Amino acid sequence: MNSIFERRSVNFFDPSKDIDDELLKNIIDLASTAPSAFNLQPWDIIAVKTPEAKEKLLELTGGQSKVQEAPVTLIVIGNRAGYDVNNPVWKQLEAAMGKEKTAGARTMAENLYGSTEERKIKFAESNAGLLSMSIMYAARHYGVDSHPMSGIDFEGIKKEFDLGEEKDVVMLISLGYFDGTKELYPRAPRRAYEDLVVTV
Ligand SMILES: Cc1cc2nc3c(=O)[nH]c(=O)nc-3n(C[C@H](O)[C@H](O)[C@H](O)COP(=O)(O)O)c2cc1C
Repeated sequence: MNSIFERRSVNFFDPSKDIDDELLKNIIDLASTAPSAFNLQPWDIIAVKTPEAKEKLLELTGGQSKVQEAPVTLIVIGNRAGYDVNNPVWKQLEAAMGKEKTAGARTMAENLYGSTEERKIKFAESNAGLLSMSIMYAARHYGVDSHPMSGIDFEGIKKEFDLGEEKDVVMLISLGYFDGTKELYPRAPRRAYEDLVVTV
């Protein structure tokens, strides 16, 4: 509960506080328990850490300085072709439940997620969106702050970081520690239960 409630989009990161590889791995390992359709995990992550790569991101985020101040910014990528035969998850499934059943599941996934371009995009974005949320809560679990961004040049980042045709940038997530010398704006109000839930 606390990791959920304590998460805020932190605008100012302390550039002197690093996130080492082990901590980043712990966060991503925990976040990777996120659910995905057929457990296909159609996502990838690029962890931007070097000054050169951060410089590129700064330009492609319209100058959002958190990508420079945060020790790491993740490019969360959704794979529109993640349902197809090349996904190694199908091999694992085959070993667990046999060729025939797996072939049935693969056909079903292809129809559900690969039959139109709109479905492919929905597949990639919904699953990678869940991973993104999971990353932010996992970060908080480890005492790390985060900031999601979609006010960015999606196509520019895709090109600059060489994602390939089927892979799209879903969002960026900066990770680090809030700069205690700054003030965090108060949490904005949320829509009330009665306003957003319709029971039928
Ligand atoms: C998908 C997504 C994209 C966002 N993009 C940006 C962004 O580009 N720049 C920014 O300053 N904040 C961005 N935000 C942060 C939101 O403004 C913030 O989550 C919202 O105001 C609620 O504040 P809180 O996260 O602290 O509760 C984004 C949030 C989400 C979920």
